[in-house]
Amino acid sequence: MMLTGKAKVAGVMGWPISHSRSPMVHGYWLREYGIDGVYLPFSVDPINLEAALRALPALGIVGINLTVPHKEAALEICDYVDDTARWIGAVNTIIVQNDGSLFGRNTDAFGFIENLKAESSWQAADGPAVILGAGGAARAVVAALIGEGVTEICIVNRTFERARALADAFGGNCQPLDWSDVSESLRQSALLVNTTMLGMTEQPRLDLALDTLPSTAVVNDIVYAPLETDLLRLAAARGNSIVDGLGMLLHQARPGFAAWFGHEPDVTPGLRNHILADLIA
Ligand code: ATR
Repeated sequence: MMLTGKAKVAGVMGWPISHSRSPMVHGYWLREYGIDGVYLPFSVDPINLEAALRALPALGIVGINLTVPHKEAALEICDYVDDTARWIGAVNTIIVQNDGSLFGRNTDAFGFIENLKAESSWQAADGPAVILGAGGAARAVVAALIGEGVTEICIVNRTFERARALADAFGGNCQPLDWSDVSESLRQSALLVNTTMLGMTEQPRLDLALDTLPSTAVVNDIVYAPLETDLLRLAAARGNSIVDGLGMLLHQARPGFAAWFGHEPDVTPGLRNHILADLIA
């Protein structure tokens, strides 16, 4: 639809920003729902982040997503942040409030769990979870699983110290493990999630045997380029249900869109195909 003088303006800030798929996702929804609004990519040097965020109310911009490398710095700049963002230590969605204050949220945990539930029959009571990785993405996944009521989470990481720090931050339900113990931990698990960049295009392979994983376990890779990673291919071949990483990207965008543009958006096959076409282009 044509923009009017009342068009609502939102966007995403990153450095660089050209890789971000968020403008395509929000642009699709704006068209789909015929909303008088626009969502723009903003290339913002980290030294200018605070000035850029502080300018949002003056410009009448309704909100902003943040991507690498701004998510941690944004947490410090926001006037208010929700509990999940504080837990994760990063803000990916800012809502500019009526009084001009900046409200920071983290919707990665929401996106992860909504996608997992939409794409599989997984439930928290199914049993322990094994998480590969201990970076920012792992924090969001662990926060989501604890929020859902999972009582046993094994965190496996190349650098054991980071796994231990993450497990300590989340308390008694988490246990750090060495890579050499993965095989044993998989034996009991109902969910395996890769949060590392292993298996991503131009990154090293994720070399993991799944022999000990029960066939009832769900395997979720948050890598989405390629969409079908070696991990997911291997899991599918032995009968595990699999969840790919594109859905998390789409679901994490929902809360921001709803807050800024006043419409709860849906993650549909049409949206998935639209983004997929760009990923494989
Ligand atoms: P993100 O915010 O996307 O999670 P990150 O904080 O840089 O990114 O974390 C990347 C994760 O991938 C980490 O768990 C990292 O392991 P280390 O903590 O040991 O660095 C993991 N990772 C990256 N490259 C890896 C590799 N070649 N082998 C094993 N793990 C790797």
